[in-house]
Amino acid sequence: MNYTEISDAIRYIGVDDDTIDLFESQYVVPEGMAYNSYIILDEKIAVLDTCDKRGSEEWLANLAAALGDRKPDYLVIHHMEPDHAGTLAQFMQKYPGAVLVGNAKTFNMLPNYYDAGTMEKLTVKEGDTLSLGAHTLQFFMAPMVHWPEVMVSFEQTEGVLFAADGFGKFGAIKNETDDWACEARRYYFNICGKYGMQVQALLKKAAKLDIKVICPLHGPVLKENLGYYIGLYDTWSKYEPENKGVLIAVASIHGNTLQAAEYMKEQLEALGEERVSLMEVPRSDVAEIIEDAFRYDRMILMASSYDAGVFLPMEDLLVHLRAKGYQNRKVALVENGSWGPTAAKTMKGYLEGMKNITILDPVVTIKSAVKEADQEALAALAKVVKDA
Ligand code: FEO
Repeated sequence: MNYTEISDAIRYIGVDDDTIDLFESQYVVPEGMAYNSYIILDEKIAVLDTCDKRGSEEWLANLAAALGDRKPDYLVIHHMEPDHAGTLAQFMQKYPGAVLVGNAKTFNMLPNYYDAGTMEKLTVKEGDTLSLGAHTLQFFMAPMVHWPEVMVSFEQTEGVLFAADGFGKFGAIKNETDDWACEARRYYFNICGKYGMQVQALLKKAAKLDIKVICPLHGPVLKENLGYYIGLYDTWSKYEPENKGVLIAVASIHGNTLQAAEYMKEQLEALGEERVSLMEVPRSDVAEIIEDAFRYDRMILMASSYDAGVFLPMEDLLVHLRAKGYQNRKVALVENGSWGPTAAKTMKGYLEGMKNITILDPVVTIKSAVKEADQEALAALAKVVKDA
């Protein structure tokens, strides 16, 4: 499977980065990251976005190879974030005759990063078109997918949607597999999760276009089965669960709460629950936990008490869930505490501030080790969660 081939006229010129430790200084990317960029070769040449500065040299070489002895006429800036606009300065220096294409917000933001000097700018708005010859780009604003200045463009002749961060994923192209959803889901909920309403607005615009290819700014070019990807984006951005299932997120200090979580998982599976994901919060990638929290319809939070509140890794998870707009889910709580258990009260406090969260009764309180009576209470709660 070729993940970057588009057509003779529309080509991929992006860069793989497999040495980055943390994307955006926060996301582990064991398969690396791709900074996508494209070029349309017609009577006029349009370059679509640049590249993170980590890939500048390679990107400039890719661009030069695609250009041959020609020069670019336009640079379309779909998104100003430095993972895409990070090589703008070098581009402007090398190709001062190109016209920068952006919207009013792009050009408000541009001076925050770069001095564009005397570069010519073309400001586009919703629905505007730019003819390159046989190819025509049409622009659609996509504010807050993922920044305010984001726009997408649609090439009308070949039906190619340049989707900015939309339909992106973690992972370098060279490490790509056919399992798109796993890292695309983790990417979506952590990077765009808060902006479901804005993603819905973009999907409505996209529904009116005859899209044959989706070219995102990260991850593979999507050419087949587009309904599958668009369907997932629709589910995700509506905050609907993708699968029936339970995430058990456990933050245990000395292992007793973890033991309770393992018991809870066994109980749920014995009741016939098919998808039960158990994640140890202090030892897991928080972005991965967020992914599963949004993926499933129910979640069980199990945590030790700590400093009259909740064990801090669990508090950190709750802060992340709140920030990403976690909503429309059913949540059960289990707390542990050797003297005054306080974890449930703190966890409830966070959950009550989120939209449409049902806290399932009862809250189970364990005092230190898991005893027979605790097992009975956990088994009863497992039944409540199974039936919720
Ligand atoms: Fe891939 Fe929002 O930048």
